[in-house]
Amino acid sequence: MIQIRDEIASDVAARERLLDACFGPGRFLKSSQRLREGRLPAEGLALAATDDESRLVGTVRLWDVETGCGRPALLLGPLAVDPALQGAGLGGRLMRAALARAAGLGHAAVLLVGDAPYYARFGFAPEKAAALFMPGPFERERFLGLELTPGALAGAAGTLRPTGAPDIVPLVAQGAVGADAAAARRQAA
Ligand SMILES: CC(C)(COP(=O)(O)OP(=O)(O)OC[C@H]1O[C@@H](n2cnc3c(N)ncnc32)[C@H](O)[C@@H]1OP(=O)(O)O)[C@@H](O)C(=O)NCCC(=O)NCCS
Repeated sequence: MIQIRDEIASDVAARERLLDACFGPGRFLKSSQRLREGRLPAEGLALAATDDESRLVGTVRLWDVETGCGRPALLLGPLAVDPALQGAGLGGRLMRAALARAAGLGHAAVLLVGDAPYYARFGFAPEKAAALFMPGPFERERFLGLELTPGALAGAAGTLRPTGAPDIVPLVAQGAVGADAAAARRQAA
């Protein structure tokens, strides 16, 4: 049976292999990456799906951002499912788990860049991101928003900025910061 749980430090290598398999090296060039690099995922919003042998078969993470007008939101992605298991409902399970978790944590809105025909089933729509911009090239019809709280994206405008906690591992490695908990979170990011 596939289980969905919080990502842990020992998932990182398998997660990166899965993302390479699903997106290739071009994944690091996406504008979304500009909002993720050097940051930790939003607290409690890095999820992993594992099979009976504890093999990682799915991943989704969300990131703290704010709109150009200072409205807080989450950026969702990447979402990926092991190619051998695609089409069996796991992507949907991961999305629903992530969105329920985000709502439970009090987040009001989620944005992403992805295939609208897939994400529409979860309520994402380009209209919700119509006045927003990514910090780099993006395809307008793939830039989607979802309000977890009605009206959360009403009037939201401008270019997204990252607001997540910084990834402080380089500082920890240099002995400049002694934050074991943050280091552990980073390993799981
Ligand atoms: C996209 C992805 C996460 C979906 O996960 P999944 O477990 O295969 O999806 P589910 O089984 O929950 O849903 C399957 C349905 O989604 C549809 N679907 C899958 N990928 C789609 C896409 N890119 N665009 C439109 N529809 C898509 C399938 O046709 C199927 O439709 P149906 O329910 O009408 O039969 C997975 O296919 C994947 O990892 N793809 C490669 C990475 C990727 O492209 N990720 C981000 C998408 S922008």
